[in-house]
Amino acid sequence: MKEFIQSLPKIELHLHIEGTLEPELMLELSKRNNVQTPFNSIAEIRDAYNFHNLQSFLDIYFQGTDVLINEQDFFDLTWAYLLRCKEDNVVHTEVFFDPQAHTERGISFDTVVNGIHQALVKGRTELGISSKLIMCFLRHLDEQSAFITLAQAQAHKDKIIAVGLDSTEIGHPASKFERVFKQALEQGFLTVAHAGEEGSADNIHQALALLKLSRVDHGVRCSEDAGLIEQLITERIPLTVCPLSNIKLKIFACMAQHNIVALLRQGVCVTINSDDPAYFGGYMTDNFLAVNQAHPMNKTEIAQFTFNAIEASFISQNEKNRLTTVLQSYLDFNQ
Ligand code: ADE
Ligand code: ZN
Repeated sequence: MKEFIQSLPKIELHLHIEGTLEPELMLELSKRNNVQTPFNSIAEIRDAYNFHNLQSFLDIYFQGTDVLINEQDFFDLTWAYLLRCKEDNVVHTEVFFDPQAHTERGISFDTVVNGIHQALVKGRTELGISSKLIMCFLRHLDEQSAFITLAQAQAHKDKIIAVGLDSTEIGHPASKFERVFKQALEQGFLTVAHAGEEGSADNIHQALALLKLSRVDHGVRCSEDAGLIEQLITERIPLTVCPLSNIKLKIFACMAQHNIVALLRQGVCVTINSDDPAYFGGYMTDNFLAVNQAHPMNKTEIAQFTFNAIEASFISQNEKNRLTTVLQSYLDFNQ
């Protein structure tokens, strides 16, 4: 099964590019840019990655972004992630970035988006990995800051497919961003949002009702509400679930208690993703392996995660058909 999972064509739909900053690159960039970090070694950095909830992770995550200064840094970060995708046979990825984590420190929006975009273009031509870019608003910041960020994105509409919502869920409801999302939708952006990660099933209801979402990021707390699960199934609303992240951030006590396989078997359009792999101990293959180890599945079930991801992705119908054929052939050949 390990080989089947390793070579399985994969699609990632929930990945924060800032969450791919490996300790080695963090130290290299801190030297290159002469930015102090509180850490002196790789071991010290890894030691700090013991989180007890979402906020304790976010504090370290935002601190890590301080070493990202120039366009080249954002390029290097993204390129390192794409090389890692190649190893895991990720054929398509939809990447989140947090512009406000950088513009708040005086880095220009253009620097951030251009660096990431150039690497994604190179990934397409040199690695054959297709991609989309999704701009997230930080929900702990105010509505005005989100509106300013949306205005900054206007010059880059050709590079950004959707807007999202991340950072501290509890205390920062979807309603705070209803007007910004409305404007983004009017401008032609698709929408996604983190909901039901640390917050309750009510947050998923609210985000779906107010933000016209194409999919829900995390959404695992849906299990508290049978009516919501029914809605997710009948309306085919996808969830981008991040198993290793959920364990590291104590959303579930252990993988055996994770609900992703139960949701898959109920018919929810769930997908497997890595969220912030440099911080949570694993990229795509690691996440698939960890789920399968705790909840043994057959090959058809494992492949269903990628079929779901194809359906949930923002690629064209033609491209969806092509990837479906590739995946079906892989499954048939390896049965
Ligand atoms: N930003 C990066 N990772 C996140 C997560 N898992 N939840 C909310 N915001 C995030
Ligand atoms: Zn996330």
